Amino acid sequence: MAERAYMEQIAQYEGQDVIIKGWLHSKTDKGKLQFLLVRDGTGIIQAVAFGDDVSPEVFEAAKTVTQESSIIVTGTVRADRRAPGGYELALSDLEIVQLAGPYPITPKEHGVGFLMDHRHLWLRSPHQHAIMTVRAQVIRACRDYLDDNGFVLVDTPILTPAACEGTSTLFQTDYFGETAYLAQSGQLYSEASIAAFGKVYCFGPTFRAEKSKTRRHLLEFWMVEPEMAYADLEDCMRLSEEFITYIVQTVLQKRRAELELLKRDTTPLERVEPPFPRITYDQAVEILQHKGLDLQWGDDFGAPDETALVEEFERPVLVHHYPTQVKAFYMEPDRERPELSLSVDCLAPEGYGEIIGGGQRIADYDLLLQRLKEHNLPQEAFEWYLDLRRYGSTPHSGFGLGIERTVAWICGVEHIRVTIPFPRMLYRIYP
Ligand code: 4AD
Ligand code: MG
Repeated sequence: MAERAYMEQIAQYEGQDVIIKGWLHSKTDKGKLQFLLVRDGTGIIQAVAFGDDVSPEVFEAAKTVTQESSIIVTGTVRADRRAPGGYELALSDLEIVQLAGPYPITPKEHGVGFLMDHRHLWLRSPHQHAIMTVRAQVIRACRDYLDDNGFVLVDTPILTPAACEGTSTLFQTDYFGETAYLAQSGQLYSEASIAAFGKVYCFGPTFRAEKSKTRRHLLEFWMVEPEMAYADLEDCMRLSEEFITYIVQTVLQKRRAELELLKRDTTPLERVEPPFPRITYDQAVEILQHKGLDLQWGDDFGAPDETALVEEFERPVLVHHYPTQVKAFYMEPDRERPELSLSVDCLAPEGYGEIIGGGQRIADYDLLLQRLKEHNLPQEAFEWYLDLRRYGSTPHSGFGLGIERTVAWICGVEHIRVTIPFPRMLYRIYP
């Protein structure tokens, strides 16, 4: 009796009969020979049906089966150096579980709009499969690194009473007569958790009602956010570079095949190791002005600024000490120059922009209260957050890493929309 096998382990079955349950990726008709490319989610294999070796019913099924039909194939595993993956299947049986109708996505070129409308089907294509596999590896690397380095996972709420990252990008919903907002970040709750656990992280979906259409912005994205008690900006920067290095090196180690399929030049990724170049916001402005960009001290960086800045370096760059005025209300000011904040962004190479944002948080009650007022934030909604400065406040810092931008950079894909299974973008909530 043949055994059920998965393609990622096909090498173990050389010479044996196996059953593979999957879908027909594509087919070539050569008369008495039918070549079926079968995928099962873990890999792809060529199954060959030879008219003289199989029953007329099986051969007929092989001839008529359509693209993306679900099928169960039985056959003998043969090593074949010419075959993609190094093995092929001499088919002996083929069961069609469901015969697919004419498949909308054909080998011809399709526009992105069409593919996005068919995202639920597009996910099956080898490129999208490779990107999602890298994404899963990135997420696993994030968790492994933090779990293995003393960070406790503390889940933070998604329905919240207050803004974390400014009021202009809030998604609002009714909460039985009260107003609730979808979380822009779990940070404020992670700050509460450090007094219980020391080092924590949260990891979940975050929401921003971004009204601009760019290749770097989603309305729903995933963010991993470590937070540490008794930690300053320096600790935050060190963790950022260690963390990113671990993620990139893990993907290089475990997902070579996917990066190859994506035709990713891995040379820039191999260079990722600490310490990352560090520059202050002041220095960054000087570099940009020198390069002829139209930018004044005090402006926040736009995508073209970030791209121009990283051209100067071959690795991710840590830009720190941004002006307080361009950052969120919770940023600790620099003691000598209070117009600067103890903030840091990590900019990815090759124009992928900011992948990490973070820094040191305000520890002092009075200053935090003053900032809430300056930012017109409602004190009642933040009383619990102020409590953290009333009862055992410490210097503390942390950051958030955006999963999709990190995956876009590592995979070398142009647009962030293909780095999440079902992207939520301006004017797109289908499928
Ligand atoms: O810089 P941001 O807004 O920082 C925070 O939310 C902090 N509260 C995090 C913290 O300190 N715990 O966002 C952090 C990262 C960005 O660097 C970027 O990678 C990603 O989240 N990000 C987005 N990714 C996709 N689409 C968007 N609209 C994003 N906004 C931010
Ligand atoms: Mg930011």
